[in-house]
Amino acid sequence: MDITILGIESSCDDTSAAVLRNNVLLSNVIASQAVHVKYGGVIPELASRAHQQNIIPVVDTALKEAGLTPEEIDAIAFTRGPGLLGSLLVGVSFAKGLSIAHNIPMVEVNHLQGHILSHFIDLQDRALPHPGFPFLCLLVSGGHTQIVRVDSPLEMEIIGTTIDDAAGEAFDKCAKVMGLPYPGGPVIDKLAKEGDPKAFRFARPHVDGYDYSFSGLKTSFLYTLRDAVANDPGFIENNKASLCASLQKTIVEILLDKLVRASKDLGIRDIAIAGGVSANSGLRNGIVEEGRRRGWRTFLPEFKFTTDNAAMIAMAGYYRYQHGDFSSLGVSPVARLQELHEPDAAGHKKAPGRTAGSRSGRRGKALRASTKAIYLECKDRTGDTVVIDILAHKLHQMFLGTADMNDTCRLAGFKAGRSPQRTGIVMGAVRHEQLLLLIGGNHRKRLVEFRNHVIAYIFGVVTVIDIITRSLPLFQKQSSFMAAEIGHHIP
Ligand code: KG4
Ligand code: ZN
Repeated sequence: MDITILGIESSCDDTSAAVLRNNVLLSNVIASQAVHVKYGGVIPELASRAHQQNIIPVVDTALKEAGLTPEEIDAIAFTRGPGLLGSLLVGVSFAKGLSIAHNIPMVEVNHLQGHILSHFIDLQDRALPHPGFPFLCLLVSGGHTQIVRVDSPLEMEIIGTTIDDAAGEAFDKCAKVMGLPYPGGPVIDKLAKEGDPKAFRFARPHVDGYDYSFSGLKTSFLYTLRDAVANDPGFIENNKASLCASLQKTIVEILLDKLVRASKDLGIRDIAIAGGVSANSGLRNGIVEEGRRRGWRTFLPEFKFTTDNAAMIAMAGYYRYQHGDFSSLGVSPVARLQELHEPDAAGHKKAPGRTAGSRSGRRGKALRASTKAIYLECKDRTGDTVVIDILAHKLHQMFLGTADMNDTCRLAGFKAGRSPQRTGIVMGAVRHEQLLLLIGGNHRKRLVEFRNHVIAYIFGVVTVIDIITRSLPLFQKQSSFMAAEIGHHIP
């Protein structure tokens, strides 16, 4: 039986949604956030706002491109972590919203496993090469640098990791020192092609085992530039390409050194790379050359699967789905890897009564059939658009009377404390941009009371210029009735 998975990725600064049928990619939509470029790095607050603006059109487009309606999706796979909490919260909340609205089970995915499992995706017009188990994956991104031993799609072990900066971070930070735009990796890669990789030498780390370190290299790069610029203010400009080529060569050699060692020690010769830095031409060539010399089978991801994308999340979700690892509506995002349930799927709770292919018993009867979705937007006193963001399932529990406002505020990541009305909902209104209200039709009366509250709270601090309910393409049918009703409360 075919399994169709919708993947949602929002861990950093790319909002992405993708649809896979089994392991075949039907669509993969990525909205990258240009807003960070002028700051030279990702600003978490801006990232979560941009995710909130992007997520609905991105998911909608992914479904349209796949030619599917939400009802045809078997599970929603979402990135639970690691990543930026505010960014993750958008994807997780949205997944919950969609899950409740359409009665679709959720599957949580570890972002890093997603990167690794992107090697198992096939395209509609051609199959891609897949590594055999066990294989080693060098996972190199802006936040991580690891060697992972992969024994199966659900069994992975990190055997080496960076003790300080990640490889992508080293690229980005050194680029910044040279006055290059963010993200620096691709820019360095391009400039390096014109430069002499042997022109400069930078410090190399001495770290035990299969671990990595890049902070020494970064400092050495900085000092080299500082000293040279003191003598020649035009030094960077005149040597940019060779600085980039030498830096890239050093990073690639550091990465390969430990990978070669791990492959020798473990006798594993299927070698893959993944993550944003796996797009680097120097690393790609380096791995292939090394592989030729050592009899490796090397696996380079398609470029579209190197940086963050939801296709890889859907792929990882597919394996979890097959294993029956579903997430409950109580799931919350986690920023750090250590806090995630680790790869071993056996450690995951299985939802009782939920097995792959069976939709019965997924959730309580009350949630079925008449669930409605609404998206509220309003403007704060600066004229910025603000919409309240509340964890959809918590909201639902409130309608059922099983959670209180305080709880909701806390769970939504706002300061609850003394007065949830002020610090919670209102802060939410100011800081976050969306409210995805999921409304069980059976609880309409409670909802009306609750909604009056929300609006009253907003009025307390924020001048509401306008409240718009938008009928989302995804939810069009369900939302029209509620839209009319909310309009009634606008003064
Ligand atoms: O996997 P990714 O999109 O996000 C994280 O999970 O971090 O990786 C982003 C990182 C950035 O540091 C970026 O500079 C780096 O990947 N990157 C590259 C290249 N393309 C992206 N680094 C070197 N060469 C590239 N061609
Ligand atoms: Zn990533």
